[in-house]
Amino acid sequence: MFRSLRLSLRFIVPLTAALLGLALLVMPLVDSLMLRWFVRDMEIRGELVANSVQQLIATPLANGDLAAVDDQLERVLDDERLYALALCSPDGRIVVRTATYPQSFGCGVPEPGRRGLRGLIERNGGALHLAAQALQTDGDEIGRLMIVHDMSFVERRSNETRLGLIMFFVLAGLVVAAISALVAHLSLRGWVAGVRSLLRGERAPASAPSPELQPLVGDLREMLRDLETERRLHDEATMSWTPQTLRRLLREQLSGDEVIVVSNREPYIHIDEPDGGIRVQRPASGLVTAVEPVMRACSGTWIAHGSGSADRRAADPQGRLAVPPDSPAYTLRRVWLTGEEERGYYYGFSNEGLWPLCHLAHVRPVFRSRDWKHYREINRRFADAVVQEASTEDPVVLVHDYHFALLPRLVRKRLPKATIIMFWHIPWPNPESFGVCPWKEEILDGLLGSDILGFHTPFHCKNFAETVDRFVESRIEPESSTIVVRGRRTRVEAYPISIAWPAPTEPEAIAHTRTALRERYGLPATHRIALGVDRLDYTKGIVERMRAVERLLELHPRWIGRFTLVQIAAPSRSALDEYRRFEAQVSAAAAEINERFEGRGPAPIRLLIEHHDSASVFDHYRACDVCVVTSLHDGMNLVAKEFVSSRDDERGVLILSQFTGAARELPEALIVNPYHIDQVAESMNAALMMSEAEQQARMRSMRQLVREFNVFRWAGRMLLDAGRLRRRVRLRERIGARSDGIREPLA
Ligand code: G6P
Repeated sequence: MFRSLRLSLRFIVPLTAALLGLALLVMPLVDSLMLRWFVRDMEIRGELVANSVQQLIATPLANGDLAAVDDQLERVLDDERLYALALCSPDGRIVVRTATYPQSFGCGVPEPGRRGLRGLIERNGGALHLAAQALQTDGDEIGRLMIVHDMSFVERRSNETRLGLIMFFVLAGLVVAAISALVAHLSLRGWVAGVRSLLRGERAPASAPSPELQPLVGDLREMLRDLETERRLHDEATMSWTPQTLRRLLREQLSGDEVIVVSNREPYIHIDEPDGGIRVQRPASGLVTAVEPVMRACSGTWIAHGSGSADRRAADPQGRLAVPPDSPAYTLRRVWLTGEEERGYYYGFSNEGLWPLCHLAHVRPVFRSRDWKHYREINRRFADAVVQEASTEDPVVLVHDYHFALLPRLVRKRLPKATIIMFWHIPWPNPESFGVCPWKEEILDGLLGSDILGFHTPFHCKNFAETVDRFVESRIEPESSTIVVRGRRTRVEAYPISIAWPAPTEPEAIAHTRTALRERYGLPATHRIALGVDRLDYTKGIVERMRAVERLLELHPRWIGRFTLVQIAAPSRSALDEYRRFEAQVSAAAAEINERFEGRGPAPIRLLIEHHDSASVFDHYRACDVCVVTSLHDGMNLVAKEFVSSRDDERGVLILSQFTGAARELPEALIVNPYHIDQVAESMNAALMMSEAEQQARMRSMRQLVREFNVFRWAGRMLLDAGRLRRRVRLRERIGARSDGIREPLA
């Protein structure tokens, strides 16, 4: 109310003042016009007066009775505007004059003065007008009548007119200003409503922005996005990302809401020992490496496949147990699968179908209807587990990886108010490659049940959007990274995954670790070591790496007997033919190369097909000279980041495949094409020859990045986005703005 009053006043006052100024400018013009009219009036009047005077004085004048003439003149003066009269002789002498006629006026008419009017005489008490009219009898001039009119009434009239004029302009000003203010106000309201609806992203025709606003739509949205991005970056950048930050963020941004995580691989596997005891194993999985520290910080429940031989023994009848075993921080809920289900859902559809489908490693995907049936069935079972574990109607559910493409949609149906984040840990292929999947529409629909869908890189997000565009009736809004299907929005965003920083293990002195590792492998103290750490998977480029070692020794024989590649290869998915074949291939390549250089010092390849715990892997990272990551295709590859985090001595060189997500974040590594064996060999040589100063500069820069963009920040960014989304949805529910279930996009 006050705001609009202020607004109107701001408009009315200047307009009224402008009109008043105009009135003051016009006033002198009106004055002079009026004066002219009245003078002209007086002249006409003078002729009439002269006519009547002539009749009255003709006889006394002819008789020479000047007293009678005088008497007649005084009588005529009764007219209120006549001020004085005088009778002059034809030769210009005053013969008779009324008492008011000043002697000084004489018998002539004054020439035009200041106001340009003949006969006008300005005086202190008001203006007079003097006119001369000839008096005649029978064609002879008998004298001249001097007529003086009092013009003070003109002044009075003029004042009245001036006042009226000012009143008129002020009033007109007020009326015009009021009308304009009203019109402006109404348009402004419409405009503001338009801008508001636009900012809210409403698309209903009723509230669609008016055509005048259309050119602003793009600009405003872009501005908002920039603001939001800046704010997000500012929020993120100003925080130092630790487990405590994440806990605080959960408390503040998500009001301590429940967090449920779902993945196929569990963080702790219980395995039967021959002596009847139980061993706990941490699986070799990038997913587990990243998500476990986040869960320790957030608490909540992690639902996963209970795959260990002693898993049932270690859990309660509902499959629950508190983990980590030494200092419990969250609940692990195990889901049980039969052997047949595991073959169909995990080995079959997930790892013979989706895994090769998404990785460009030249292994053909295999799709079987019976595997798909199990995949659907197990996704349903995990959705049941989410519903069972949820103690509120709107938990935050974080679904991980390609084993659960259908889960977001299934959970959405059961818990419509849940905030569902799906993170796809592996690459997303282009539409042509994905198009070969017989159940592509179902998979895309399942994923689009989530609120936020995360990939490691913008490139995978783009591939996903193009795939949806190709196969699903949808609207893609690239400017807000949003895909809309049947009115429901999914934000598709890049969240590059990372590792915990600082590394949880307390490090020993590097020199000690280096010596210990060389002793362990029976190598001389000065022996140079390159390290590979991978699951035994055909996507990792292990054979190419070994061929590069062979080529290195061919190209630079000085390394023969002085250099070894230690390859840790954790057995993986070995129930599958493809993986068994791959293991045989790797073993054969290592044996062949070692045989070739036999007898010339320590073997160039030390292949360790066995599981290593994280402490042992950490020691290897710290003891080696070079870490080699030559994946043929990899969503991120956390080995690269773990190696960097372990090197607090700022030494060691990372060789990194250009086909990993990590290569985009760590350009200071020696970036290679793993298919180009000579190039990888030369990079190995360059790494071995690299000066300490250069190693330090590269490592310092990479460490800075991994420290800043650690896994707490990765999870924090997703949770911040989820928190914003939840606040918006809750606000909308409170104000009852939308009850159609359509969620607004995140900025
Ligand atoms: C990749 C996948 C993970 C998986 C890991 C190990 O990193 O993205 O989801 O856990 O490989 O594979 P496995 O089949 O042993 O769980």
